[in-house]
Amino acid sequence: MTDDTIESLRIEARRAPTSGIVDTVNYGRLVPGLIPLWVGEGDLPTPAFIAEAATRSLAAGETFYTWQRGVPELRAAIARRMSAIYGRTLSPERFFVTSGGMHAVQIAMRMVAGAGEEVIVPTPAWPNFAGALTVSGATPVEVPMDPSPEGFSLDLAKLEAAITPRTRAIALNSPANPTGWTATRAELGAILEIARARGLWIVADEIYHRFVFDARVREGERAASFHDVRREGDRILFVQTLSKNYAMTGWRIGWLEADPELGQTIENLIQYSSSGTPVFVQRAAVAALDHGEGFVAHQIARAVEGRALVSQALARVPGLTFVPPPGAFYAFFGLPGADAPALARRIVDEARIGLAPGTAFGAGGAGFLRLCFARRAEDLAAAMERLVPVLNAAAAEGERSRPVQVRA
Ligand SMILES: Cc1ncc(COP(=O)(O)O)c(C=O)c1O
Repeated sequence: MTDDTIESLRIEARRAPTSGIVDTVNYGRLVPGLIPLWVGEGDLPTPAFIAEAATRSLAAGETFYTWQRGVPELRAAIARRMSAIYGRTLSPERFFVTSGGMHAVQIAMRMVAGAGEEVIVPTPAWPNFAGALTVSGATPVEVPMDPSPEGFSLDLAKLEAAITPRTRAIALNSPANPTGWTATRAELGAILEIARARGLWIVADEIYHRFVFDARVREGERAASFHDVRREGDRILFVQTLSKNYAMTGWRIGWLEADPELGQTIENLIQYSSSGTPVFVQRAAVAALDHGEGFVAHQIARAVEGRALVSQALARVPGLTFVPPPGAFYAFFGLPGADAPALARRIVDEARIGLAPGTAFGAGGAGFLRLCFARRAEDLAAAMERLVPVLNAAAAEGERSRPVQVRA
């Protein structure tokens, strides 16, 4: 195939960015004894009671095309669980089953923005927001978050300043991957006010809502949510997934939550992308939502332990930019001036630990690395014993190579 052949493809397809994590994963994939903390998933397999629901469905012959919006039993189960979590009655008509959270993101972006239009994305951010927008011809507009001694923060004046006549939506991920930044209820209210005043959509990715560690952003058993501040008629599309809470990343099931009036449009977009999520996968999701609270609690307890262990170890590296995250399950830390992809490769070589380079998450991630702590404590303890000396060495070398400040 020649360059011409690729050039002949649609520009949006050609422009789709390659994941910045893949380079490091390819580099370290085959290293013996490597502890992989680079991707966003835990180490626990899907609980047996969930897998068994899928097996029963297959044995019963549920192998046909299905409801585009999701089987009624699953939409009802989602509504029950979400109503309990958000403390308000949410109708099954609001929920549209998708093949993973990513599929929900893709449909949401296709609903709100296309060629010549912009969507605001605070960064560092999960790169798939920008990817989904690029593929649909829209332009992601980064609003860099500010790192500070208290952690990352989002300057709402900067967010507002990024709005142009072409802006159609704000994509807000809270708790955020990779920074762990989590909006307070007041911040969510202020962002919603901006969206209302400017006639913008909000794509609310709250998939890490159960992983919240800081009282300032906590609402009961979960993080603050746009559900806490929204009114009837607000233009909000919620993205959700079973991937993280129920250890189901490989199953590819999630949902989009929206005003029921958008139902036919969403159904059509599902029809023309996945044509529905397999019924046996949906049966597994019903079991997860109805009987999975014990497992979610277990995962949260492990994340609390993992966060403490990793934070204590990172505190032993002088010069590191790091604050224990208020939400999600990542430590995102920086060495000023470091070349993140090169440092991630060095960590593979010298510590046999897989981390994601911060550059994969937008311009604000330069010099940062992301570590996923949703993993058993023994692995994390071993990983940190190997990682801290390499980080200390890199920090000391960085310090030596910094230009000496001469006082005038
Ligand atoms: C912020 C965020 N949203 C959505 C997803 C999508 O998850 P999935 O497609 O596995 O459901 C991820 C996965 O890493 C994520 O980090």
